[in-house]
Amino acid sequence: MSSSRVALPIDHPGVTDDGYLARRNEIAAASIGGSPVSPPAIVYTPAEDDVWRTVSAALSPLHAEYAVDEYRAGVVALSLPADRVPQLSWVSERLDALTGWRVRAVPGLVPIRTFYGSLSERTFLSTQYVRHPSVPFYTPEPDVIHEMIGHANALASPRLAALYEAAGRASLRASTDAQMEELSRVFWFTLEFGVAWEAGQLRTYGAGLLSSFGEIQSFRASALESFDPAAMSRRTYDITAFQDVLFAADSFADAERSLHDYLDRFGR
Ligand SMILES: [Fe+2]
Repeated sequence: MSSSRVALPIDHPGVTDDGYLARRNEIAAASIGGSPVSPPAIVYTPAEDDVWRTVSAALSPLHAEYAVDEYRAGVVALSLPADRVPQLSWVSERLDALTGWRVRAVPGLVPIRTFYGSLSERTFLSTQYVRHPSVPFYTPEPDVIHEMIGHANALASPRLAALYEAAGRASLRASTDAQMEELSRVFWFTLEFGVAWEAGQLRTYGAGLLSSFGEIQSFRASALESFDPAAMSRRTYDITAFQDVLFAADSFADAERSLHDYLDRFGR
């Protein structure tokens, strides 16, 4: 048995689809041993490109309404294709030119310190598989659509990329697992699910919201708390449900300032 064999939870939409499971194992195997310089190429199927096209077309107009300007500047700069899954090597080259970041392929979830440690080296560890085609607007795990539309677009913005890097540097100073958990909760409530007021509207800069067709249209109904990284670091969350509480900054610039301040002091 290959170490890249994928085990899906019992409620995963692809868990009884043998063709999907075989494809997941194939992509996981190809993702092992890739370097930041040249992530392995994947020949995506027409069905996989269809899922990308469907989700990408649905999210684009939603970004115009719900995403902060800084993220949208990243979208324009990176210019991901709308009609097919991009190759990580292509995205890596683009990001390197824009912000000095690289993308490295991984088969699936990696240990938390590995993920954050890579951020300190301006390297984003990304999956390459596509969610199950039966539910194009849902994925229980971070697939290539979440990684690229949520995170890579953000990393094309120098200001957002600097926050990711600061989170990575902070992680190197987490001396205990509890500290590491605190940091990951702050990351969750900011770079995954952060919201900020802009032009009189609540908008998001978080990859989790920016890549979710359902949640990006409902986050304005969430309960809001004022932006406070210390409070975020103590707040638990449910990754399987829409977030019922979000931390709203007065502006993206305020979120940026406050988060840099927290991350720069973290662990010192
Ligand atoms: Fe993510």
